[in-house]
Amino acid sequence: MNLVFLGLPGAGKGTQAKILANKYDIPHISTGDIFRNAIKNETPLGVKAKEYIDSGELVPDEVTNGIVKERLQDKDCNKGFILDGYPRTLDQVEALDSNLDDFNKKIDLVIYTKVSESELIKRLTGRRICEDCGATYHVDFKPPKEESICDECGGKLIQRDDDKEETVKKRINVNKNKTEKLIKYYDEKNILIEIDAEKDIDEVTNDIVDVIEEKI
Ligand code: AP5
Ligand code: ZN
Repeated sequence: MNLVFLGLPGAGKGTQAKILANKYDIPHISTGDIFRNAIKNETPLGVKAKEYIDSGELVPDEVTNGIVKERLQDKDCNKGFILDGYPRTLDQVEALDSNLDDFNKKIDLVIYTKVSESELIKRLTGRRICEDCGATYHVDFKPPKEESICDECGGKLIQRDDDKEETVKKRINVNKNKTEKLIKYYDEKNILIEIDAEKDIDEVTNDIVDVIEEKI
């Protein structure tokens, strides 16, 4: 099963992709996570990506396409995969289609998580992540058991630099038109599923699982 999660920043793509990747035992490929790891480890990719991410802009397509192409060739992707936050532009869609053709694979479903803009801002400004394992929390909607401590690994919870309100608004604007175009593209291919992702995390998961079990 090959899935794509599409949605504006804060729509819950990462939260849901992680849950489903565990449930179906397939890799969760988040371009945002790949870039953040590269930045943390100060690799050449991290150095290149940092200024774009910090300012809320997209990393150039040729860089992003290259890393996803490489990742999709890993053996664990043969059992399926979940792409989270990729593709995001029509150029990325084209690159993905062409790579999947070469690998004899295809996308089965594109899950579009729809959330209103005011809710996106609340979710992103209240998000905290574990600086060690990357687990995601929210100060109101998904608080850790102990304040500022990761339930999973005991690491410290921090705010992402790009989750400050100004950068959040910029990210939403940078992605809005592009996301619209991708929705249209995948809808025309009849593989788009729109999910009301404004509900609670568990309810959204159940709705996505229902669709997957029905369609795949
Ligand atoms: P990335 O990390 O992918 O950021 P994003 O797309 O902006 O998405 P987010 O991770 O912010 O949100 P999400 O939808 O995963 O929400 P989450 O589940 O965390 O990318 C970061 C940057 O990398 C980009 O700005 C860009 O520069 C670069 N980049 C990445 N991919 C790229 C690409 N393809 N091309 C070019 N550049 C790229 O949830 C958010 C919060 O809400 C959390 O606190 C969570 O606990 C909470 N929450 C989740 N679901 C619910 C719910 N149902 N109810 C209540 N709270 C909820
Ligand atoms: Zn942790």
